[in-house]
Amino acid sequence: MKLAVYPGSFDPLTNGHVDIIERGTHLFDKIIVAILVNVEKAPLFTMQERVEIVREVFKESPNVEVDVFDGLLVDYVTRRKADVIVRGLRALSDFEAEFQMALMNRRLGPKIETVFMMPAEQYTYISSRLIKEVFSLGGQVRGLVPAIVESRLKDKQLKKGNANVS
Ligand code: PNS
Repeated sequence: MKLAVYPGSFDPLTNGHVDIIERGTHLFDKIIVAILVNVEKAPLFTMQERVEIVREVFKESPNVEVDVFDGLLVDYVTRRKADVIVRGLRALSDFEAEFQMALMNRRLGPKIETVFMMPAEQYTYISSRLIKEVFSLGGQVRGLVPAIVESRLKDKQLKKGNANVS
C-alpha cells in the first residue's frame, strides 16, 4: 500500500490543490491531505473550516483522507507510516524553497521521498494568498476555488460587512 501525505496550509483549498490531490489518487493507494496547525498566526479559515472544506470536496473519494498535524512534517509522515510527501510545483519561482524543503526533509527522514507534481496549466498562477487578496478586493474567484470555498468566502465577507455596520 503506497501512502502519500500532501501537506500544506490550505487557507483556503484552491482548484490547484484539488487538481494535485486528484492526480495523487491515481499514483497512490491513499493520499492524506495534512493541514498544518498554526501555520499563520491569523489564518482566514479556522482549522475546522479547512478540514470541513477538504472533506466536502472529496466526500466521494474514499482514498483521500484529511488530517491535521503540527511539529515536523517528517515526524508526522513517519507516524502515519507513509512513504511519500507530495508537493505541487507551479512555476520556477516555487522551486528554490521546495528544493530546500525537500532536501531538509530527506536529511531528517532519509526513507521518505518527496514527489513533485505539476497542476494543470490553468492553475499554475493560483495561490491561496492571491485568492484571498483578489476576493477581499471584490474580484471574481469562480473557477479558481471549489464552490464551497467561494460560498464560505462570501459568508465571511457578509459577516465582516455586518460587523462593520453594527
Ligand atoms: O501550504 P504551505 O504553506 O506551502 O505548506 C508548507 C508546509 C506545511 C509543507 C511546511 O511549512 C511544513 O512542512 N511545515 C511543518 C514543519 C516542518 O517540518 N518544517 C521543516 C520543513 S523543511
